Amino acid sequence: MKKTVLLRVNPQAPEIEKVRVAAKFIKTGGLVAFPTETVYGLGANALDARAVLALFEAKKRPLDNPPIVHVCDMKDVCRLVEEIPAKAEKLMKTFWPGPLTLIFKHSGIVPDVTVAGLDTIALRMPRHNVALALIRESQCPISAPSANLAGKPSPTTAKHVLEDLDGRIDAVLDAGPTVVGVESTVVDVTVDPVQVLRPGGTPLEALKDVLGEVGLSSAVTAEKPMPVESVRSPGVKYRHYAPNANVVVVEGELSAMVDKVNELATYYMRRGSKVGILCTDETLGSYRGDVVKSLGSRSNLASVAQNLFARLREFDSEGVDVILAEGVPLEGLGLAVMNRLRKASGYKIVKASASSSV
Ligand code: TXA
Ligand code: MG
Repeated sequence: MKKTVLLRVNPQAPEIEKVRVAAKFIKTGGLVAFPTETVYGLGANALDARAVLALFEAKKRPLDNPPIVHVCDMKDVCRLVEEIPAKAEKLMKTFWPGPLTLIFKHSGIVPDVTVAGLDTIALRMPRHNVALALIRESQCPISAPSANLAGKPSPTTAKHVLEDLDGRIDAVLDAGPTVVGVESTVVDVTVDPVQVLRPGGTPLEALKDVLGEVGLSSAVTAEKPMPVESVRSPGVKYRHYAPNANVVVVEGELSAMVDKVNELATYYMRRGSKVGILCTDETLGSYRGDVVKSLGSRSNLASVAQNLFARLREFDSEGVDVILAEGVPLEGLGLAVMNRLRKASGYKIVKASASSSV
């Protein structure tokens, strides 16, 4: 077991000496968790095959699911990709630095393990001064998947990172909770029209405002697990974002949803299960469960996204057996929230309608 060093830094103006301690680990093949605007990432030098391999091992992540490579300037993008399509240029100008990852054909300078042997690479420039300072001081692009054990909810605080990875990584840069709360939107720019492979912190509507036509991979809105061969983004085929408790997602019109959640809560409690209910401010007072938590207001899906992963982890610390989660509209950040909830449930989705019963 390693000793994991905790480095507290100012999110706006990170102390350079602390960033340099972290960068030294990256430069010498080590692993450092760091904040981005979306979730905490676990970083390794993207050009160092052994470091990237160690990254997969620390996370217990399957080798066929490549992490995102993080950059701090356009020079790195030019080095790493074969070409920059005009639409990608537009997206980068509008959304970078920010919660948007683009899939390019790569130039071949990264080791195979960094891209899981694919001919494409996922790139993003994060909107966080600590992340950008770390990349700059490390003088290399940084491979960084979310800093959780594979399959667990992504970490939005340094405490979440340590829950999963203490003793498995060299250091954590702690700059407080992340702002967006769900991971970046992943867009394949090697196809025309470009296609969203994973919804995230940059809403689909915003991409359409810039490009007009934007495709949506059928995996994004899947309500049943997709057959593996039809899923194009490698990470999409694994169960993800899942707390220890079983998650059931209830979707439908608001009052029908409330009735259905209460009906299911009664059913599970009678069977002796400890029931958690994940709801919104508007419905918080309508539920009977052992632990009831709100994600925020339905009128502010950004706050719902920001709180999602932390709430899922809280239910685990309270030892609930089942989490009944309310659905939210599939618009704005709601698309990413629903994608994560459905995957966390292993696609246990219940449709609530006025006349239905369990
Ligand atoms: O917000 C984020 O994106 C966070 C922070 C740390 O930046 N990172 C993150 O990384 O979520 P990760 O590795 O957990 O998710 C990367 C996603 C996976 O779904 C992976 O399959 C997909 O991007 N991906 C990576 N390379 C790809 C490629 N060449 N083609 C298609 N999808 C790819
Ligand atoms: Mg992840």
